[in-house]
Amino acid sequence: MAASMYINLKPVKPALFNLKPAPRHSLLRPARVRCAAPTKKRYSITLLPGDGIGPEVVSVARNVLKLTGSLEGIEFSFQEMPMGGAALDLVGVPLPDETLSAARQADAVLLGAIGGYKWDNNEKHLKPETGLLQIRAGLNVFANLRPAVVLPQLVDASTLKREVAEGVDIMVVRELTGGIYFGKQRGFGTNEDGHEFGYNTEVYAANEVDRIARVAFETARKRRGKLCSVDKANVLEASMLWRKRVIAMAAEYPDVELSHMYVDNAAMQLVRNPKQFDTIVTNNMFGDILSDEASMITGSIGMLPSASLGASGPGLFEPIHGSAPDIAGQDKANPLATVLSAALLLKYGLGEENAAKRVENAVLNTLNKGFRTGDIYSAGAKLVGCKEMGEEVLKSLDSQVPAAV
Ligand SMILES: NC(=O)c1ccc[n+]([C@@H]2O[C@H](COP(=O)([O-])OP(=O)(O)OC[C@H]3O[C@@H](n4cnc5c(N)ncnc54)[C@H](O)[C@@H]3O)[C@@H](O)[C@H]2O)c1
Repeated sequence: MAASMYINLKPVKPALFNLKPAPRHSLLRPARVRCAAPTKKRYSITLLPGDGIGPEVVSVARNVLKLTGSLEGIEFSFQEMPMGGAALDLVGVPLPDETLSAARQADAVLLGAIGGYKWDNNEKHLKPETGLLQIRAGLNVFANLRPAVVLPQLVDASTLKREVAEGVDIMVVRELTGGIYFGKQRGFGTNEDGHEFGYNTEVYAANEVDRIARVAFETARKRRGKLCSVDKANVLEASMLWRKRVIAMAAEYPDVELSHMYVDNAAMQLVRNPKQFDTIVTNNMFGDILSDEASMITGSIGMLPSASLGASGPGLFEPIHGSAPDIAGQDKANPLATVLSAALLLKYGLGEENAAKRVENAVLNTLNKGFRTGDIYSAGAKLVGCKEMGEEVLKSLDSQVPAAV
């Protein structure tokens, strides 16, 4: 149902700026769970299941949102729309106008994943991945927040030694709608020696840097007050401007400790001593790479959610993993990254902090009970598929017991 139908029930803006302080370790800290709220709030959610494991994990998250809503006095209306390969098969484009329009009218958007072998050789404008860039640009969600938290229950799933991984709690703030992925000067050509070449351009305007830097400073302020800006200012002009603007903004945030790191060093430090980081802010491409690297420290890509926010309008919430065509349709996918994305949707997208905590607690409780999908399985745990993991989260949602960590 369109947001406009609930004029007097407008959700809290997804922008970070007006958020109440978030708990320092929101994924780790047990929360006191309140009883159902007396009045019913209503929100419309556009679901974009996409391809591969996307529909499997979104279906779990939808059930989780629905039950959470009924426990918290919130009514959700869901609208499923095609995107990615599914939309290509249906209507021939990766992001149909109807899908973008439904997303824009919703209070929040939950995306599964897109892509698959079938469309790998399509022309660029007919690739599922193009739809992803289009929806981010179409919703103008310029700030991508990717938490990477090593949960005590999964510390042994990390590829790093226990003492290095234990206690890691990083937030990567990635610029999402600018930089080299969107630079207009791009293409192919032939040079004077007759060699074919391809080129792209990294472009950042001051206002683009300022708005992401502000989100990052605000985020750091609500966490442990440390912000590391990652760039390549020793080589790239766009990074030199980036650094200059970040330094200028630091004057407004004297309580945040700002540091700078070149991206090559940051990649190294992330695996050497990840605990040194609190909040990282970086451009689109560096953020793409570093947030995937950070994800591996936590054990599995199947655990990591993300939130993409703009200055106004609905936020886009999605797991950081792709469509995993190797396990699609086999009930093997870990749905928890999408469930935790739904928690971010509740928190950042709708301002429903209690409901978000309820979902996070349910995930922790389910892990505490020993349930694991294949990607996070270790000896002695109970191996479950995507559906059963979802059912266990639903059971934990219903219980009022705060998660023990
Ligand atoms: N946001 C997105 O929709 C997105 C992001 C990345 C990749 N992709 C697309 O996904 C397709 C596959 O890409 P890829 O293989 O590089 O990355 P991927 O994230 O889909 O998979 C990488 C590996 O992680 C595993 N994995 C991923 N999610 C999992 C989960 N929830 N539970 C258990 N295991 C999981 C997969 O089985 C695979 O072994 C490509 O078409 C790519 O373009 C989409």
